[in-house]
Order: sequence, then structure tokens, then C-alpha cells
Amino acid sequence: MADNRYTVPYLPAGSTFGPAEIDAVTRVLQSGDKLSCGPERDAFEAEFAAYTGARHALTLTNCTIALEFATYLLNLQPGDEVIAATQTYQANVTPLLGTPARVRFCDVDPETLNISPDSFASLITDRTRALYLVHHGGTPADMDPIMKIASESSISVVEDCAHALGACYHGRSPGTLGHFGCWSFQSYKNISTLGEGGMLTVADDRHAEVIRRIRAIEPDADFERRTEPPFPGLLPPADDVERHAKNAYDEDCTVMRHPGTNSTLSEPAAAVGRVQLRRLGALVARRREIADRLDSGLGSVAGIRVQPRRPGIDSGHHLYTFFLDATAGIDRDLFIARLDSLGIQIQLRYFPVHLLPEWRHRGHHLGECPIAERIWFREQVNLPIYPQMNDWQVDFMIETVHKTIRELSR
Ligand SMILES: Cc1ncc(COP(=O)(O)O)c(C=O)c1O
Repeated sequence: MADNRYTVPYLPAGSTFGPAEIDAVTRVLQSGDKLSCGPERDAFEAEFAAYTGARHALTLTNCTIALEFATYLLNLQPGDEVIAATQTYQANVTPLLGTPARVRFCDVDPETLNISPDSFASLITDRTRALYLVHHGGTPADMDPIMKIASESSISVVEDCAHALGACYHGRSPGTLGHFGCWSFQSYKNISTLGEGGMLTVADDRHAEVIRRIRAIEPDADFERRTEPPFPGLLPPADDVERHAKNAYDEDCTVMRHPGTNSTLSEPAAAVGRVQLRRLGALVARRREIADRLDSGLGSVAGIRVQPRRPGIDSGHHLYTFFLDATAGIDRDLFIARLDSLGIQIQLRYFPVHLLPEWRHRGHHLGECPIAERIWFREQVNLPIYPQMNDWQVDFMIETVHKTIRELSR
């Protein structure tokens, strides 16, 4: 929630929802149609697939479950290894804690905070099965070299696209470059489906079919037809009687892989997602304007390094990150405390995951990803960015950063 004590709170007050979203919810509620697993979901999936170029787009309740489902589909076994980004939100890699795979964390490119192809290549062994990466802050990772390295070693790639809706990598959308694209429509993301929501994009038809089943409480299992009913003395229902779980009378389960769970997006949420997807261009364009204004206001300040733009790569501008140059001799924590006291609320994104207690418990340690650690503990600053921000707030941030640099460099 926005913190009113700040001139520029880190998170915006309210949402980007307007009359079109409110109309969409009203239309669905007044339609008399069912509110789950209906036409809005199907239309949102088709429109999302068309927008991203994905073969299949499957709505879910959030990105965390999309990452869990991708992990399920990978079927990781003892002895398998996975390479994973460390500068990411914890949900990106949490599902791996429930697998027997050994995780090797990958260091970052110091400009983008995405995994670096060289660091990825250096961690591959003949046991590596998968790569988990994030498009940090909405800037696509360098997918051409990454996918070339991955395909040479038959490594599956899970893309965490929570920040990357509206981004573009040489004409293609993130989430269609690897094998699994995991998307978030939580409140503060580039679009939102009433506060929570997610999508899994996949190219493989079998993967799509499995997810369609398990997201709606159907098991992923093998069944065998019975000739005799399993309940002696009880008659099966007549053919014209609709009874829940009718197959209980004529099928046995021979192999159970996943019991199924419920993670379906509601119809009002999907209807709002459709409206937000149509507004995505404008929402991301406003984020880009803010990022451009910040870059030109901060790019020439001695002691600051802004993130470079790369030809053919457009960010979704979900986060705005810059770095304090180590040579400027400014203490980063003092710097952000000063910005905070002057009215800019700062939240840093993201603590290197390998140093979280649950991963240290598995033997991960300081020194494992030295670039990510140096940047996180000493150099990185995130400024607020969201479409609801006005130009006056952007200029206030630029002036305040200038003033703080001058003060602390003395
Ligand atoms: C990089 C990243 N991955 C995954 C998630 C989880 O998304 P959700 O809240 O939709 O589960 C987030 C949410 O903040 C995120 O930033």
C-alpha cells in the first residue's frame, strides 16, 4: 500500500483500474454466466497467446503456482542439477526446495542483473537438467546465447516473466524463448487481474494438456477401464444421470503422478485481464517515459551508473535500478536512508536468494555469487516506478538524488 508520508511512495496509491475494468466486472457479474472456468478465461488465454506468440497460455491464480507447475513438469530426479538466478524474488526458485535436485546459483551481469551467459555456461555439468532465470526488472535476459548453450546440453529453460510483460527481445516476447514462461498479474505488476493472477505459457502440447487437468483438480494419472464396477452390490448411474466423478464406476487408476489442485482464475479477474492487456501498450509506454526521464536526469551524474539500453531489447520497465559507482566512495545504505528521509521511499529488489536461510541451510554461502553480492550490498538502488507517477514526482526524485550525491560526496 502507498505510504502517505512520502512524496514518492515506493508503491502506488490505488490501481491502474479505470472505467473499462469496472465495466468488464459489471458485465460478467450481470451476465448470469458461471464465474469460474468460462468464456472470459478462454478469451483471455487466446488473447494472451496471440499477444506473446505463445502456443499455449494457461491462466492460473498466480505466478508462484506457474513456477510450481513448470517444476512439476520437469520431473527432477535425485542426481539432477538445476542452475538458477540468484537476484530474483524467492518464488522463482522456492519450488526447487521441494525437489531432490541440486541447485547451483548463477552470478549476474553487473549491468542488467540478469544471469550472464558465461556464468551459466561455467556451471553446466553432465547432470544439468534445467535453468531457472528471471527477466530482472522487465529487461529480457540475453536469450540467444543462453538458449544456444541450453540446447547444446538439452537443458530446459524456465523463464520467470513476472516483470517482463510488454518487453521485447529481438522481436519476440519473453516467455516464448525458453520452454516455460511464468507470468504474474499481482497488484503492482505491468497488468493486474484484480490483485492476483498468473499465466503459464508453454509450447509443448502434452505439457498444456497436463496443466489444464491439474489446475482444475483433475489428477495427472494413468487410468484403466474396468469391466466390472468396483463397488459390489451398487449399480452404476444410468447414462442420462449426471453424477460427479462418474468414472469412479468404470476406471481404475494405475499410475498417479499429480493428484491435481485448484488454481483457476475467476471470470471477473480474467475479464479485467483482457482489458488490461489491451491497455498494456499505454501502461508500459508510461513506465518507459519515466525510465527515460530518470536516465537522462541521472545518467551524467558522477558516481552513478544507470542501466544501459541494448539494441533490439525493450524492457517492460517494471523496476528502475541504478548503481552507485564504488569509486564515488558513498555508503549505499547511508544514501538510501537519506533519500528516504527526504521523501523517496526506497525498497531494494532482490536480496540474493542463495543467502536466504532456507538456501544457506542447504549449504549455500556468501561468496558464491560475488558480483550479485557486491551489487546488492554496496551499489544497487531502486527508485519507485509506476504508471500513476506524475512528471513532478519524477523530477523530484532526480533533484533529490543530485542533492544527496552532492551532500555525501563532500
Ligand atoms: C520475479 C518474481 N517472480 C515471481 C513472483 C510471484 O508472483 P505471484 O505473486 O503472482 O505469485 C513475483 C512477485 O512479486 C516476482 O517479482
